[in-house]
Amino acid sequence: MGAEHRTVKIVVIVVVVLLVIGGILGLTLGLLLNQRYVELEVWPRTDDYKWEEPLIQFSPSNKGTVYPWIKRINDFLRPYETTIPEDPPRAPCSIHNREEQQIRSNNCEMAMRVWAPCTIDEYYGYTMGTPCVFLRLNYLHYWVPQPYNVSSSLAIPTEMPEYLKQFMIQRPAQMFGDYVWVSCGGELNSDKENIGPIQFIPAGLPPGFPLSRLHTADKIPYANRNLPDQTPPPLIAIFFENPRREVLINVECRIWTRDIYYDPYSRVGRARFELFINN
Ligand SMILES: *[C@@H]1O[C@H](CO)[C@@H](O)[C@H](O)[C@H]1NC(C)=O
Repeated sequence: MGAEHRTVKIVVIVVVVLLVIGGILGLTLGLLLNQRYVELEVWPRTDDYKWEEPLIQFSPSNKGTVYPWIKRINDFLRPYETTIPEDPPRAPCSIHNREEQQIRSNNCEMAMRVWAPCTIDEYYGYTMGTPCVFLRLNYLHYWVPQPYNVSSSLAIPTEMPEYLKQFMIQRPAQMFGDYVWVSCGGELNSDKENIGPIQFIPAGLPPGFPLSRLHTADKIPYANRNLPDQTPPPLIAIFFENPRREVLINVECRIWTRDIYYDPYSRVGRARFELFINN
């Protein structure tokens, strides 16, 4: 009788200890993964970039304030340089402007036109006070996205921007493939006014990332999940056509998939940054 009692006690203790260890492990893993899970990155960024307040500030007429931003974008785009860009090109293929670069392959010349005005040929819009900001997704190796499309009978959220719904209807997923959709806008009411019209670049292409080009968990062997990707993830750019000067503009961008819920405090699939354009 006594021995049996002791066995039960030991089993209970072992179970409790295992549960505690499991809980601690799960919690730390969850916290770690949370920070590095489906990040929507904003570029350019400074060396002391902070997620909470990434500020892009410059004065279009002052070369000294514009040049560092152009250099940061060039540094960011360097891994994307190629003479044989894909169709459609995943990024601007050159970081040397036309005068500097005597020979540019025909394909790259075409790709640069697709990415206009978010190319070095137009100084990414910074000298005109109409900057381009690049977005890309990172930390996708543990993610299997559930895209929004009109091919499935599942409902599309009513709060989804109209332009995304239009693209979804015009380019059905069975023919054009699925996208992780992206929307951007002013964060507060004043920002919604100050931000002015924005365009997603490449113009005319869906605002988002094609699933076919994202290295998500379903596309990589389990053993390779900790390894870095061979090719950098595809980009899109937001082009601010006429942002108000001399005010701080808070911009929020987010992705739209069925499995990621919107939360204004979350970092998963959501990014924010601040634009301040001086006179
Ligand atoms: C459409 O969306 C559903 C649900 O997210 C997904 O399972 C499916 O693969 C998507 N694509 C097509 C072509 O149906």
